[in-house]
Amino acid sequence: MELKEAAIARRSIRKFKPDPVSRETLTEIIAVANRAPSAMNTQPWEFFVIAGDVLESVKKQNIENLRNGIPPAPEQIISGWPPDSPYRKRQVELGKQLFTLMNIPRDDMAKRVEWMERGFRFFDAPAAIVITYDKMLSEPGPLLDLGAVMQMICLAAVEHGLGTCIESQGVQYPSVLRKFANIPESKKMVIAIAIGYPDPDFPANKVKSSREPVDTVTTWVGF
Ligand SMILES: Cc1cc2nc3c(=O)[nH]c(=O)nc-3n(C[C@H](O)[C@H](O)[C@H](O)COP(=O)(O)O)c2cc1C
Repeated sequence: MELKEAAIARRSIRKFKPDPVSRETLTEIIAVANRAPSAMNTQPWEFFVIAGDVLESVKKQNIENLRNGIPPAPEQIISGWPPDSPYRKRQVELGKQLFTLMNIPRDDMAKRVEWMERGFRFFDAPAAIVITYDKMLSEPGPLLDLGAVMQMICLAAVEHGLGTCIESQGVQYPSVLRKFANIPESKKMVIAIAIGYPDPDFPANKVKSSREPVDTVTTWVGF
């Protein structure tokens, strides 16, 4: 598969078939992603690949925490979006696209909560990859490297017919992951990727998120 084809085909998948993804396939994907560049080839990423009963326990406990009002405690803060900024505008646009496809009216709190919970249960994926780095590393040093490897995983997955959703929602309760997946205190959890075979009938899986034109995001100098 051409890189361009994979880049265009990749999109966030928010519901998966229950079919498991083999360890062999996941190993191939990680082996490709592992070719990502990193500062001075430090390769600061460490993956925790979670499936089966362990993942089910994480999903269950995440939802229980949410419903009991336990505040999320992410170890990596994803930046905020000022209200009048283009960033917030793009976020709202995506929300509208998803809620329209899912037929979730703005004021239907029950449906909105149900939607939100989906991310905390890894969109029903049969596997999840938690990307971490060792806390001995400086802040926010390895984040660029982790971003590179994260995207490589998502692209490599496409070639296997797999879908992914990068999700900060997956690492909102690090203590739950530590407990069930034995992730040591010394590892900082940055992001999760839900991975599995996409459910083609799920409306939100059809979302085609927009992008700004190249000239809006690029300043050409010296041409
Ligand atoms: C750092 C990061 C965190 C994200 N966290 C979430 C999340 O918690 N829940 C979710 O549904 N999507 C999450 N996403 C997916 C984005 O919403 C998605 O990539 C974006 O809307 C573009 O859509 P696309 O992936 O379909 O191209 C995240 C993406 C990134 C890069």
